Amino acid sequence: NHVRLTIACANRLGLRTVAVLRGEKPEVPTGNLLLDHILGVAEIHWVDPKDYATREELVRATEARAEELAEELRRRGEVPYVIPNGCKPLHSAIAYAGCVLELLEQMRVLNLAPDVIVTACGTAGTQTGLILGSLLFAQGQIRVVGISVSGKAENLRARIRRNLEEAISFLGLKLSVPEELIEVYDGYVGPGYAVPTPEMRRAVELLARKEGILLDPVYTGKAMAGLLDLAEKGAFKGAETLVFLHTGGVPALFSEAQAPVFYSSGETFPGPAV
Ligand SMILES: Cc1ncc(COP(=O)(O)O)c(C=O)c1O
Repeated sequence: NHVRLTIACANRLGLRTVAVLRGEKPEVPTGNLLLDHILGVAEIHWVDPKDYATREELVRATEARAEELAEELRRRGEVPYVIPNGCKPLHSAIAYAGCVLELLEQMRVLNLAPDVIVTACGTAGTQTGLILGSLLFAQGQIRVVGISVSGKAENLRARIRRNLEEAISFLGLKLSVPEELIEVYDGYVGPGYAVPTPEMRRAVELLARKEGILLDPVYTGKAMAGLLDLAEKGAFKGAETLVFLHTGGVPALFSEAQAPVFYSSGETFPGPAV
């Protein structure tokens, strides 16, 4: 998702994009990869997970490859800018703090104010920014709930704290971050990142069939599954206005890996009664 959106933004700015992707080059591009081609990505380089023993090694190798390519471009007189997976924590924190401001402005017109924002949490950049936004624009009164799509809650909380401290110091502010404002749940990942769960499928179908809104199978589908379960357990008692942040990702519905989940037999959510 991030790569596809980066190419789209770069196009608007008249910049070329060189993508370094983890995985094996598929015979037929689908999902985001198809969109990368339509958007006219300049080059795609693949880093094969089979060559690395751990995910950490794979991530490091991908970053190293991006640096090598940037060096090669510099030698050719170009001016590359390397964006890591999920973007730099400081940049995502500041950008998503802006999202809170935008949300507050849009909701004010409707005479509403958010009590809780629920978001998917991957690299945690989005959630870090939302918490920063809650502190900057709502005195920390907006509760931000992150639903992990891969990592352990404890690790994500530590990362969010580190990144918040970096952002707060960059902005030259004196803000303390209460522990309860860093709220992450990791019970909805299922077997692993991007591995479908029945709860994800049910959440995607529920939103599609009740609201006509499409979620994605990797991030927002699992986050919505978390929201629904937490709501059922009474985790949002007392909150009047809950906002679910739809962070995108819909092209993954059309990927070879995810699409079959939605037409395989198994539990589905019924459509509207006729
Ligand atoms: C659609 C979508 N939602 C949410 C996220 C999670 O964002 P973050 O990595 O900032 O936690 C991502 C990250 O790639 C994403 O693609």
